[in-house]
Amino acid sequence: MSRGHTNYACSACRASFPRWSGRCGQCGEWNSLVETAEQPGGGGLARAAWRGGLGLGPRLGAAGCGRLGNTPVPLAAVSLEAGTPRPTGVGELDRVLSGGLVPGSVALLGGEPGVGKSTLAFQLAAGSGTAGLRVLVVSGEETAAQVRRRAERLGGAPATVELLATGSLGDIVAACEVAPPDVLVVDSIQTVADAALHGAPGSVGQVAGCAQRLVGLAKALGIATVLVGHVTKDGSLAGPRQLEHLVDTVISFDGDRHHELRLLSVLKHRFGTSGELGVLSMTSGGLVGIDDPSSLLLADRRPGVAGSSVVPLIEGRRPLLAELQTLVAPSALATPRRAAQGVASSRLAIILAVLEQRAGFPLARMDVFASVVGGVRVSEPAADLALALALASASAGRPLGERLVACGEVGLGGEVRQVAQIERRLAEAARLGFTEAVVPASAPKGPAGMMLRRVGSLSEAVALLVAA
Ligand code: TYD
Ligand code: MG
Repeated sequence: MSRGHTNYACSACRASFPRWSGRCGQCGEWNSLVETAEQPGGGGLARAAWRGGLGLGPRLGAAGCGRLGNTPVPLAAVSLEAGTPRPTGVGELDRVLSGGLVPGSVALLGGEPGVGKSTLAFQLAAGSGTAGLRVLVVSGEETAAQVRRRAERLGGAPATVELLATGSLGDIVAACEVAPPDVLVVDSIQTVADAALHGAPGSVGQVAGCAQRLVGLAKALGIATVLVGHVTKDGSLAGPRQLEHLVDTVISFDGDRHHELRLLSVLKHRFGTSGELGVLSMTSGGLVGIDDPSSLLLADRRPGVAGSSVVPLIEGRRPLLAELQTLVAPSALATPRRAAQGVASSRLAIILAVLEQRAGFPLARMDVFASVVGGVRVSEPAADLALALALASASAGRPLGERLVACGEVGLGGEVRQVAQIERRLAEAARLGFTEAVVPASAPKGPAGMMLRRVGSLSEAVALLVAA
């Protein structure tokens, strides 16, 4: 491949610069500049993705991606078929993807090492193969024998699944151009390198450059592509932060590798709703979907412990019961510790301030810890009331009722506000044997057998449930 002069482009706003710098001079994003091999005449990132002659055969028309064409077409004449998802056979993955992988789309599957990304990648490859699709699995991390061993353990691979053990972008592009697969799985994007770019595999320039090229390939040939990416301990995708702008779908695969529960969540999705949660279990026979995640999440709950509460969440389209645990202890530090897992620290800080100012709990000199059981991340304001009651319970040393759930948003004035879909939340709680619910004053009627305790403010809720 011939290279023009080196250029740098911002992966956030696509502005192009002759020199690298730590911050984009156009949009101000940090560490977003990546090297591109600019063809004479310019064109920046978009052009970089098309470098290298993609051998655009008749499949381009079939894919109908419409990205390359420079002639406008009536919107109504654009084929809908190209955007139809195809199931991968992994039920929970298909659920979070609103049906499956879309031809010509690129999904990034991120997770910490050991969580099960390669296992999931193989299972989706095998499932797609079983459905009759041609699948190419690229392994840059494991040898062909290692991949085969895992495949055998998981029930073998259908004949339409092919393996390419390489870390070379050129090899991947060549294989796809010769015989474009329906589904391409690259495990992982950090192990792929483009010989035309500087830097070792995994460096920001390589990761972003290779991903751009694979996105171009996917769009041009109609290949549903899954890029596996490692995430660092702080939860961000290593290197591929910029990739989130490039890809159509970002899937986060979480879970504690010492525990069998795994959670799939879609952070971005151009072909359906995001926010859907998939729950799986890592077994000796691979990943298995869990139909009733609420009971699993509550299975190890110890009743009668102060500081614990249960909240009915809505994750995507389904209700999910999660346990919040808190611990409050006198601090020996000038600035008491505040640690939160699964709850945003900023939300915890607000709830603590409201408890102190509006409900009279002296928490300023206390260390406070809060976590959500099972690795679930709670982002809904509907969990505010349950978090506040758990903290009040921990602070007072009095357990909440064993069969009690709480849901409601807490305002800065200490008022408890209505939340969406309260009937569905309470129905799920009732199904799992909960008999009492603390809800906002304006909440509709609850399900049969459930006693509703309507509260207008946090102090009212605390007086009702925590005070002696
Ligand atoms: P892996 O998919 O290799 O994780 P990643 O690609 O995210 O690093 O699998 C991680 C762990 O899962 C590994 O320690 C073994 C375990 N495992 C099972 O428990 N059951 C199985 O069927 C498979 C294939 C792996
Ligand atoms: Mg792996």
